[in-house]
Amino acid sequence: MKTYLVTGGAGFIGSNFVLYMLKKYDAIKLINIDSLTYAGNLENLKEVEGHPNYTFVQTDIRDEKKISELFENNDIDYVVNFAAESHVDRSIENPSVFVETNVNGTLNLLNVAKKYWTIGEDQYKPGKKYIQVSTDEVYGSLGDTGYFTESTPLDPHSPYSASKASGDLMVKAYADTYKFPVNITRCSNNYGPYQFPEKLIPLVINNCLNKESLPVYGDGLNIRDWLYVEDHCKAIDMVINDGKQGEVYNIGGHNERTNIDIIKTIIKHLNEKVDASITEDLITYVKDRKGHDRRYGIDPQKISDALGWLPDTAFEEGIIKTIDWYLENREWTQNITSGEYKDYYTNMYK
Ligand code: NAD
Ligand code: TYD
Repeated sequence: MKTYLVTGGAGFIGSNFVLYMLKKYDAIKLINIDSLTYAGNLENLKEVEGHPNYTFVQTDIRDEKKISELFENNDIDYVVNFAAESHVDRSIENPSVFVETNVNGTLNLLNVAKKYWTIGEDQYKPGKKYIQVSTDEVYGSLGDTGYFTESTPLDPHSPYSASKASGDLMVKAYADTYKFPVNITRCSNNYGPYQFPEKLIPLVINNCLNKESLPVYGDGLNIRDWLYVEDHCKAIDMVINDGKQGEVYNIGGHNERTNIDIIKTIIKHLNEKVDASITEDLITYVKDRKGHDRRYGIDPQKISDALGWLPDTAFEEGIIKTIDWYLENREWTQNITSGEYKDYYTNMYK
């Protein structure tokens, strides 16, 4: 029975991954550690709360003592590191916490895992692996043509992407210096259930439902490459099982859209489904984000050739599933943007 230490499993992608893995495999043990920042929410994991193979531990990935205890008491096979500060706008306001979690936290996990997995110089217990869940944003911004491949030079622009790139480089250094068993995945923008409504898609859905303005940064023509979150989870599972030592895998489904196209798509669905007064009149062009990357686009050839990964959910289907989920779970949005994190949310985004 393999034991997974998942970090950041109460956040958007992490919680989808926890649910995906516990649904897919009967014979795994999964320990989820999360410090429960504003972005972490145990409500996401209600359906697995009492699952016999699942444990939640509230802890910070920078806490060497607590992480060591977990390794001491469990024979951990895989570390899957989702835990991060993840929002570009917040990173522009306050870069430091991004370095603390995304760089120092990553380093701490590497150090503890290395300590407990070592059996000799540059030798580790067989079958162990550290997976760093990273982002296409580390590659910077594309022009009108071309795609990010795994050999595209890192060229991060925001404090968020710089911190993720730094974390990735530390993981690479452990593979190069100590032959430490790792993989790095770099996925494009995710969307789906449980995404915190500071990110474009849930923010637009939420604001439409509240008849609040929809802030479009700059000219609205920046392009992101969108992937349904479950397809990301599937790819990570494949990388854990079959990824080659030290390799990076890009993950994306060739679904590039301008922001304004995304916003209009959501308005159209909600207008037809919920309320005819949800219209494009809500769109409000606002000042551009500082250092705003123009275009992201992933070349997924490597993961598709090497591991047979292909996405299952087309955008047209995924966006409807996502909108429906937010409609059916309006309380989730209300809960996560109220209570002790209300001020944090409100002050940054209203
Ligand atoms: P998220 O912000 O929704 O969740 C992050 C989680 O990490 C939260 O539960 C938070 O409580 C936890 N966390 C933060 N700091 C922590 C710390 N110091 N110790 C322990 N837990 C901590 O983020 P997400 O969108 O789910 O992203 C997850 C990972 O995937 C991140 O590493 C991100 O860089 C990467 N990624 C995200 C996207 C995307 O579109 N969202 C795309 C590609 C890669
Ligand atoms: P976001 O969801 O923050 O993801 P990322 O910046 O990591 O790609 O933003 C997606 C795109 O949408 C990005 O180009 C910025 C833009 N955007 C807006 O135009 N308005 C908004 O209110 C937000 C949150 C984002």
